[in-house]
Amino acid sequence: MGKLHITLWWILLLVNPVHSKISPLVYDEQLLWVSGGAGEVNTFRIPLLTFTTRGSLLAFAEARKESSEDVGAKFLAMRRSTDKGSTWSPTSFIVDDGSLFDGLNLGSVVVDEQTGSVMLVYSLCFHLNGCSPASTMLVESLDDGLTWSTPRNLSVQLGVKSFAPGPGFGIQKRHAPAKGRLVVCGHGSIEGDGVFCILSDDHGRTWRNGAALKSIPYNQPKQSQDFNPDECQPVELEDGSILISVRNQNSYHCRCRMVVRSLDGGETLPVEELVFDHTLVDPAVAAGALQKEGVLYFTNPANSHNRVNLTLRWSLTNGRSWENEAVQIWPGPSGYSSMTSLVSNSVEDKKFIFVIYEKGHNEYIETISVVKVHLYGGR
Ligand SMILES: *[C@@H]1O[C@H](CO)[C@@H](O)[C@H](O)[C@H]1NC(C)=O
Ligand SMILES: *[C@@H]1O[C@H](CO)[C@@H](O)[C@H](O)[C@H]1NC(C)=O
Repeated sequence: MGKLHITLWWILLLVNPVHSKISPLVYDEQLLWVSGGAGEVNTFRIPLLTFTTRGSLLAFAEARKESSEDVGAKFLAMRRSTDKGSTWSPTSFIVDDGSLFDGLNLGSVVVDEQTGSVMLVYSLCFHLNGCSPASTMLVESLDDGLTWSTPRNLSVQLGVKSFAPGPGFGIQKRHAPAKGRLVVCGHGSIEGDGVFCILSDDHGRTWRNGAALKSIPYNQPKQSQDFNPDECQPVELEDGSILISVRNQNSYHCRCRMVVRSLDGGETLPVEELVFDHTLVDPAVAAGALQKEGVLYFTNPANSHNRVNLTLRWSLTNGRSWENEAVQIWPGPSGYSSMTSLVSNSVEDKKFIFVIYEKGHNEYIETISVVKVHLYGGR
């Protein structure tokens, strides 16, 4: 090997962050929403975050009009950033559920790489509180999040089971099997409870029911420590399987995350693929998961009983083990979290992931914060 050849090889190694050691650093943090302020919103909760195909960053949350309760009237709030999170548009309300007893609940955001469409799937009347039946709804933006369609009722195709997508993102399969398929996973309430995925093979035009991981005892009231898979976040691994990180609602087996995999593009969730991750201690909450450049990232309030201590972990083995170093993003009250990153060939985009989470000083519902994390310690 010539000297020039060796030099070029070293330069390649140095500029390619994949070969560097992961050492996450909180690079920038901004509060996107503050609850209890003036105006028509009592509480902002359930944050979602995604990049669009044009590289814009979209953040969404439930804007709960009257109280901090899960039930009740809400807006769907959005802010948009076209400079990778440095500055954000003012809040726009893209859906108003009126004054329903049991309004909308977020939700999963899913982006179709081929059409550029951004779809938000959410539920209406999920808790059947003064209304019936529950509906699964979808709004879509075809112009990078600037304007949104009127809500479309997916229950016409899926049936009227209570289905709460996410909260988090849905995926579009990048690898076989079922390359190009949209997969949105969520959980049901008592009339069909457990984790379920809905699938679209035509860029979101039609949807059908896919995989299910049913609770035990199924469709019956639960007791402490029953098997009750709840809110969930799917990610596609590089081998084409779908890993789903699941809230272990009744602390079956452990106070930790359940993880299940689908090997057939979201058609089934075999019980043989279900594991309990004792490293990922969890108070029963919606957590964040993300796969980037072969590394699996995970965020949750890492505490067995309380929603405090929002922590970022990473795994070089698709979640079979976790690196010992963990980064504490916020020691105090912290709740739901979700992650995103921009998939591109740019070296700069390979360096960052973004975390959105519920953050407070006394209670985790006080604000929604977005954090930009440099994966290589600012190098
Ligand atoms: C959605 O469609 C289902 C099935 O047709 C129907 O029962 C339900 O009332 C619809 N929901 C809304 C909000 O229109
Ligand atoms: C916060 O999380 C870290 C990493 O899992 C853990 O070592 C620590 O005990 C946690 N602290 C609290 C207060 O939960």
